[in-house]
Amino acid sequence: MVVWSPFRFNCGREMANRFAIAPLTTDSSHEDGTATEDEFEFVRRRAAGGFGATISSAAYVEQDGRSWQGIGAAHDGHLSSLQRLAEAMRAAGGLAILQIYDGGRIAKPELIGEQCLRAPSAVASLRPGARTPRAMTADEVAGLIASFREAAALARKAGFDGVEIHGANHYAVHQFFSPRANHRVDNWGGTLARRMNFPLAVAQAVRDALGPTLIAGFRVTPFEAEPDGYTLEDSKLLCNELAKLNLDYISVSLDDYRKSQPVGETRVYDGPVEKRPPPAESPITAFARVIAGRSAVMASGGIKTCIDAEGAIGMGADLVAVGRAVVVDPEWLAKVRSKREASILAGLPKNEREIAGALSIPPRMVEYLLSRPGWIPRL
Ligand SMILES: Cc1cc2nc3c(=O)[nH]c(=O)nc-3n(C[C@H](O)[C@H](O)[C@H](O)COP(=O)(O)O)c2cc1C
Repeated sequence: MVVWSPFRFNCGREMANRFAIAPLTTDSSHEDGTATEDEFEFVRRRAAGGFGATISSAAYVEQDGRSWQGIGAAHDGHLSSLQRLAEAMRAAGGLAILQIYDGGRIAKPELIGEQCLRAPSAVASLRPGARTPRAMTADEVAGLIASFREAAALARKAGFDGVEIHGANHYAVHQFFSPRANHRVDNWGGTLARRMNFPLAVAQAVRDALGPTLIAGFRVTPFEAEPDGYTLEDSKLLCNELAKLNLDYISVSLDDYRKSQPVGETRVYDGPVEKRPPPAESPITAFARVIAGRSAVMASGGIKTCIDAEGAIGMGADLVAVGRAVVVDPEWLAKVRSKREASILAGLPKNEREIAGALSIPPRMVEYLLSRPGWIPRL
């Protein structure tokens, strides 16, 4: 089966199989952005299952872009924590990839201070309780690109095999590409071509910092579910430009790869939300066609069994990233590999103390998981 075969990236690094652990924020780091022992254990236990790669939770590149209390890759003070994280992620010899992000307008005011909220434009997000950010100056935009470059350089120093730019899920890179969030009229907005400039500049900066032998990936939300958002046709053009930068992979962020629906900005999982219907063509297939082998395509969203993974690969993906299934069952991949899928845990136990202890999930992450009804199944 393809899923168990190795995969070689453009840069020459190889995954032993096609499974990656998806980036999973724990909301459990120290205030200074260094990882806690609970976080190392969360990652180590899951990576030990034998994944071809583990992608870290998103690390902030600037203090003012923090959206939760997670890890940082913002300065040398984060180096030793990142080194330990890379080691934990390699628990079974898989590749270690650091995801980096900036929250832009959905940074958390309680963490950064109300006045520090900055974004492409002074437009509030649709999330409940969202505050209106101020528009970044051109110098701040250039500074943020430099922060992504420096974070990638730090990842390299810490011994990661590569970096994934978080260009999805409504964070700052996504915001620059979105006509809903970006109303700028300078080099960074106004037309579709100019809305691509920030994601492309970040990708180029990260590629430059990593050099040709480390993995550079980019995660994208393939279209915005909200009316007036960017379309699949728009993001296909972006992917085509990203592939020209010799990226190793493009990761397609979906809530469910079969339904082709991305995570909405409001993040309401169980309520009625106005959403555009998904396009007729699967975003995975569409991206695979546009990218045409120049970069790998990684699919994610609702992969719970080997058949799901094969299904995503059948749609054109080269790799799959698994999120909630491996949160709920740390031994998920070992069970899939040994054909014990019937014994995979299907949801989090009812008892919250049991969740943290038995499953090695940091207690604050348990709260975070349970704070969004319908996000994660319960037994
Ligand atoms: C607890 C949790 C934290 C997440 N944190 C991140 C993150 O830091 N970066 C990211 O790109 N996606 C993040 N995601 C999204 C997942 O990577 C994945 O795309 C999503 O959960 C859908 O895949 P799944 O159905 O396999 O969970 C997170 C998801 C969960 C459940």
